[in-house]
Amino acid sequence: MCSVVNFNINGYHYKLPVVYGTFYEKAINISQLRDSTGFITFDPGFKNTGITKSSISFIDGEKGELLYRGYPIEQIINKCSFIETSYLILNGELPNTAQLKSFSEKIKKFNHLHKEINKIFDHIPNFYHPMGILSSLTYILDTFINSLQKEDMYLHLLAKLPILAALIYRKKVGLPPPHVNPHLDYTSNLLEMFFSIPNKSYEQNPIITDALNKILILHADHEQNCSTTTVRLLGSADTGLFSSISAGMSALWGRLHGGANQAVIEMLEDILRSGGNIKKWIEKAKNKKDPFRLMGFGHRIYKNFDPRAKIAKKVAENMIQKLGISDPILELAKNLEKEALQDPYFVEKKLYPNIDFYSGIIYQAIGIPKYMFTVMFALGRLPGWMAHWKEMKNNKDPIGRPRQIYIGYKKRNIQK
Ligand code: CMC
Repeated sequence: MCSVVNFNINGYHYKLPVVYGTFYEKAINISQLRDSTGFITFDPGFKNTGITKSSISFIDGEKGELLYRGYPIEQIINKCSFIETSYLILNGELPNTAQLKSFSEKIKKFNHLHKEINKIFDHIPNFYHPMGILSSLTYILDTFINSLQKEDMYLHLLAKLPILAALIYRKKVGLPPPHVNPHLDYTSNLLEMFFSIPNKSYEQNPIITDALNKILILHADHEQNCSTTTVRLLGSADTGLFSSISAGMSALWGRLHGGANQAVIEMLEDILRSGGNIKKWIEKAKNKKDPFRLMGFGHRIYKNFDPRAKIAKKVAENMIQKLGISDPILELAKNLEKEALQDPYFVEKKLYPNIDFYSGIIYQAIGIPKYMFTVMFALGRLPGWMAHWKEMKNNKDPIGRPRQIYIGYKKRNIQK
């Protein structure tokens, strides 16, 4: 393993140090490049840029592997709850029984909103998109939390975000504010907050609780994706946790990122409505003159199956079969996947289904409407965002401030 790389620019010889990761992924440390050579690097979309050293999650995009704190996602899905996974991601190790109990109890302690938040919420028009509302309320949340202890910030967010999500959903469907049930575990309480109706508590179904747990775990972290990088970038400017997470939500909302889960179901419904001609839609996705893309397909890092999509597909199939639902959208999604994976365009470009391809089908089977899908993604991604914000602070990462190649006018004078 080399510790430096040697290179020549215009006949001058330079050396730059090499940084290695746990799995020997290698990076050239260019932090002194401009000082020593006068050059910067040009990398739109940060396709080849490592912005930090991180120990939270690891993706091997060529093999299609994902680890949280070293544990394969396939093991976590089968052995852990979402709240254990959140603890793992935030603290680095899985909790023992006492630690898990104390973590869950502490979260329950913060299971309420300040009455001012409810007042503000009442004034937000109901036609706003849930992601906009969630992001805005998260932004102002810390204003109404007294004596914000350092470690309590994370627990407040874990406790309060599901309440905000339930509040938003219930107003949309004309239900009164949610009722928190402190006797339930995190995911069961989330379902109860969403779906209980006045004078009737929600009847828990283990098939649904299990599916929700699993889909939240699949979202929990995914290294330096667009929203997580946004959270880190804001934190690097010394912006507070709540504002940084709020900005991360705005990034997640984009259709190329977490907003893809809503876009996938809308696309599948369009395909069904227009007669279900899969080949026609695949041709449309391949046509460079057409802006349409196959939503839920492709990924910056995975050049193989996204392991999350494989698990989500199984979870969707399993729950739909166990619940005895017949879902034409699931059948269509499976046929579309099969067709695309045989098409040379998708094969050559290594475009596989990503997490968003099947997640919406799971949410729909739980009873969550399309407009809430990305909110659910945000609830799942919360531990990851917080862990990255915390890590960025502990690393003392410098303020994020890229350079640019200016291609505008040369210096000129106003002619008047
Ligand atoms: N349908 C058709 N063509 C595609 C697709 C797609 N879904 N995705 C990528 N391509 C093509 C793209 O046109 C390009 O072709 P060419 O080389 O001929 O110009 C090539 O594949 C490489 O694509 P790219 O846009 O340069 O790749 P990227 O790494 O910049 O973008 C992506 C990744 C996820 C934004 C993109 O694949 C995409 O737009 N997918 C659809 C949206 C989606 O499902 N997003 C969810 C991502 S996973 C959840 C998350 O973490 O947010």
